[in-house]
Amino acid sequence: MPENYLALAKQRRTIYALGKDLPLPDDDVIQTIQDAIKQAPSAFNSQSSRALILLGNEHNKFWELVREQLRKIVPAESFHATSDKLDGFAAAAGSVLFFEDQDVVTGLQEQFAAYADNFPIWSEHSSGIAQYAVWLALAEKGIGANLQHYNPLVDEDVQRTWNIPASWKLRAHMNFGSIIAPAGDKAYMDDAKRFIVAK
Ligand SMILES: Cc1cc2nc3c(=O)[nH]c(=O)nc-3n(C[C@H](O)[C@H](O)[C@H](O)COP(=O)(O)O)c2cc1C
Repeated sequence: MPENYLALAKQRRTIYALGKDLPLPDDDVIQTIQDAIKQAPSAFNSQSSRALILLGNEHNKFWELVREQLRKIVPAESFHATSDKLDGFAAAAGSVLFFEDQDVVTGLQEQFAAYADNFPIWSEHSSGIAQYAVWLALAEKGIGANLQHYNPLVDEDVQRTWNIPASWKLRAHMNFGSIIAPAGDKAYMDDAKRFIVAK
């Protein structure tokens, strides 16, 4: 287990080779995900982030919905490669689908008209922070994850299948599971091009 925040931040990587053998009971994983989202900050403490957590067959069902939508738009001759890729994602143990509740956003816009233009932006920021919080919390438990975006392709299917409120807007999908193979090396751009420090 990493000893401090930066060690944990380095441990968190995009892991594509995931399996179903989680190192914790399902309920502990669910609690970890929920706690990470609850502790994430949001503009005006609006808590606009929502999540659908899928395990087992429900996770597999998500990937079948993606497959059927992609079958409609991917050329038949290349669909087998797409389908193989989806098999890889479905091999993971579970999914977290991240939503932002648009009722919260419009409610804030009405309440604080001066910031109206900012609330949709801050909602997106909140979602990104919540996603990173979950990614780190899973990494800390030795659970690998990758981030995917099959929205808006699957939005209606997801809404219908899991009875998701109409105001929840799907933003991202995190696939998680046991780590079958580690991430590869990661390249970093030059600090000098990235940071300006004045002191
Ligand atoms: C906002 C955002 C969107 C991303 N979208 C995808 C995606 O759709 N599919 C994917 O495989 N990885 C996606 N990633 C993962 C990045 O490719 C990955 O984080 C980056 O290459 C750095 O690698 P690391 O996560 O191992 O540090 C996304 C990451 C972020 C932060």
